[in-house]
Amino acid sequence: MPKLTIDNREVTVEPGTKVIEAAAQLGIMIPRFCYHPALGAVGACRVCAVKVLAGPPRTTGIQMSCMLEARDDMVVSTTDAEAVDFRRHIIEFLMLNHPHDCPVCDEGGHCLLQDMTVSGGHGIRRYKGRKRTHADQYLGPLIQHEMNRCIQCYRCVRFYREYAGYTDLGVMGIGSRVYYGRYEEGVLENPFAGNLVDICPTGVFTDKPSRYRGRRWDFERSLSVCINCSLGCRTIVCSRYREVVRQEAGFNPDVNGYFICDRGRHGFYYASAKDRPRKAVVDGNAVPAASAAEEAGRRIDRVRNIHGGQAVACVGSLRNSLESQGTLKAVCKARGWQGPVFFDTADAAACTAAAVAGLNRRTAVAMPRLAEADLIVVLGADPVNEAPMAALAMRQAARAGAAVIVLDPRPTVLPMPFTHIPLRPEEIGPVFASAVGMGEDAEPLPLAAVEKLRALVAESRRPVIVCGADVVPPTLPTIAADGVSHLQDSGKSAGLFYLLSGPNAIGAALFTDGVPSVDDVVADIEAGRVHALVAVENDLFHRYPDHHRLKKALDALDVLVVADYLDHPLSHRADIFLPSATVFEAGGIFVNQEGRAQRISPAFKGGTPLSQITGGAHPPREFTADIPGSDAAPAWAIIAKLAGDASLDPASPGDRYPSLTVLDDCRPFPEDGILLDRTLGLSTQIPPSAASGTIAGGDDILVITTDLTFGTETLSARSACLNAAASAPSAVMHDADAGEMGLSSGDIVIIQGTSGRLSIPLRTTAEMARGVLVIPRHHRVSWQVLGKNMAGIDRKRIQKG
Ligand code: SF4
Ligand code: SF4
Ligand code: FES
Repeated sequence: MPKLTIDNREVTVEPGTKVIEAAAQLGIMIPRFCYHPALGAVGACRVCAVKVLAGPPRTTGIQMSCMLEARDDMVVSTTDAEAVDFRRHIIEFLMLNHPHDCPVCDEGGHCLLQDMTVSGGHGIRRYKGRKRTHADQYLGPLIQHEMNRCIQCYRCVRFYREYAGYTDLGVMGIGSRVYYGRYEEGVLENPFAGNLVDICPTGVFTDKPSRYRGRRWDFERSLSVCINCSLGCRTIVCSRYREVVRQEAGFNPDVNGYFICDRGRHGFYYASAKDRPRKAVVDGNAVPAASAAEEAGRRIDRVRNIHGGQAVACVGSLRNSLESQGTLKAVCKARGWQGPVFFDTADAAACTAAAVAGLNRRTAVAMPRLAEADLIVVLGADPVNEAPMAALAMRQAARAGAAVIVLDPRPTVLPMPFTHIPLRPEEIGPVFASAVGMGEDAEPLPLAAVEKLRALVAESRRPVIVCGADVVPPTLPTIAADGVSHLQDSGKSAGLFYLLSGPNAIGAALFTDGVPSVDDVVADIEAGRVHALVAVENDLFHRYPDHHRLKKALDALDVLVVADYLDHPLSHRADIFLPSATVFEAGGIFVNQEGRAQRISPAFKGGTPLSQITGGAHPPREFTADIPGSDAAPAWAIIAKLAGDASLDPASPGDRYPSLTVLDDCRPFPEDGILLDRTLGLSTQIPPSAASGTIAGGDDILVITTDLTFGTETLSARSACLNAAASAPSAVMHDADAGEMGLSSGDIVIIQGTSGRLSIPLRTTAEMARGVLVIPRHHRVSWQVLGKNMAGIDRKRIQKG
């Protein structure tokens, strides 16, 4: 390993390390603009100059440290007068055309160019000529463009095109003018475009929704974890005056690396929504939160005394913290209530339970390992729409030569070349099993692509199987896990990467007790077995596939108690509503799809944002001891109060699930989270038989409801800026099916569901499975008349509108 000296200090580095990285290992931050650890070096900006005092021939003298490989016996100075002078001149050149608009630039205060200019000593402008100027472009609701600030470092296009794989933004040049933008103005098409804000070393790309809301030093900044999907990417929450103003990507080498997706970046506005319910309500009247909880406890006890404990059902959700899920379980057990239930349907519960059973130290891999795979086989998953950062990791593998094969019925889009084998959900498992040599008895589909899959699996050395759990048969996660074990047994370094249906799906599976799903609870209400329902942070109307049935069931209840931080139809129906605190206020532990438990610390205390009280962004002139709108409490505390048991300690989820004692023993909680000790055997009490296991056949069309990157996930669907950036939702069907049914792209189709009609524009394509109709669970689409998330319906019930 090369050993070199930098600024009189020795360092030994891995072969291939650049001098700028070797210096970083010593804590020496060499100036840089174009270099970025995730993007590598291109030698564009020349600001990383150092002087090599001794080294191999042709390496001595002024060198760009990002381009120069560290070698044995090299002697490098970052402080040599010649190097310092060189860098000072580079900064001066870069500032020739810069508008010097730091006072009004949102980057001011955390701008790399500003930092380098000030620290490099460039304080006097000598150039008297006219500055080169550019027109700015409208790039959509998420990113503001100010091209005059550009220093031509190429980071943006390297991220956008090379790293992320999207082509609608690029670099254009004529003469000495170099322009970074779109060929035509318009909304950026890249769901990772927000990273331009973090990656641009100056203020060309800034976060549009948070413009002029504060400088970095104005914000309370805290590390957090994104809960907008199951991956658990690290974020940095920037809050001010009781309001999250901005989120930035946090660095987590074990999960998301340097980047996050736009859903995660902009998925937080629900926390300070003007319509956020902040007051407890009993029978339509605002009351103090403590009295509302007491009244809820009284009414629940009344039901319990008349009908027994099982007449009270508890529903949590996949967005509950582990503490809340654990407390729900403890309360249900202690009081004899039914539940807790976290999943909407038995299939969803069974899929997640199967995934939990499939995860173990030997098989489960994280995103960095996904990015190093030489073959990725996607089973029943749509990464860009379900868990966007997984697609970015897959892109890195593809850039390094990995083949990507997707077995899924939907028309999949990925930012990389891939082979799509459009299969119906029930076909995916057998085809995969046969390709990995497990299902020799299965009749392989006569498709060239399946042969290709078989050959690629045979050749691969580091295959990773990405398996979905949303619109797949509940048997698929187990087949995927068995396939990975089988590949490992045959000598391959195979990995398993599940995509689950929510940020705390694993926690939900661990704490599910008794009946597995909301479906079962609804059936129990209908049968008169349940008379009181406690719903904690679950907008049942958002995900439950049958609104009509749900409404009827809720009408039959004696008591409905809802605790949440969102305003939604269920909270409007509640007899008693209790405001709960968001993750930014309460914190909590979330277990991602890999089984990594990560603790989020509260970012601020809570209360109505000042911007909604004073009418401006500044504090009021008068203060009182009370924080307005601060009645919200962590959901676990609300649950404990309802049960009249304040002794429940939410910090000990291990009390409720033995394998989680590892979380209790670990203090302080490690920053990179805790991989739940899967060797102890995480298992759930969700019976495999819970799932229906039936998928329509015959002449029916299989209707599948699915997620989109924007507009379907509960929390981010409330972000106005994401809704403005997203294209209008549409149903999708195979060209041939549409032709047979007299439908074509652009038609409005009317679908007669089990409890009503759904009207939606249709798009057709040849890139999907036959006999399938895909409907997005978009908040603007009333898909909840379909009755199920995946069900066959008679073709006659799909008509042109
Ligand atoms: S826009 Fe920003 S990231 Fe792109 S080249 Fe200019 S300074 Fe670099
Ligand atoms: S991929 Fe998921 S966890 Fe990561 S930033 Fe996006 S929404 Fe958040
Ligand atoms: S950082 Fe080395 S040339 Fe830009």
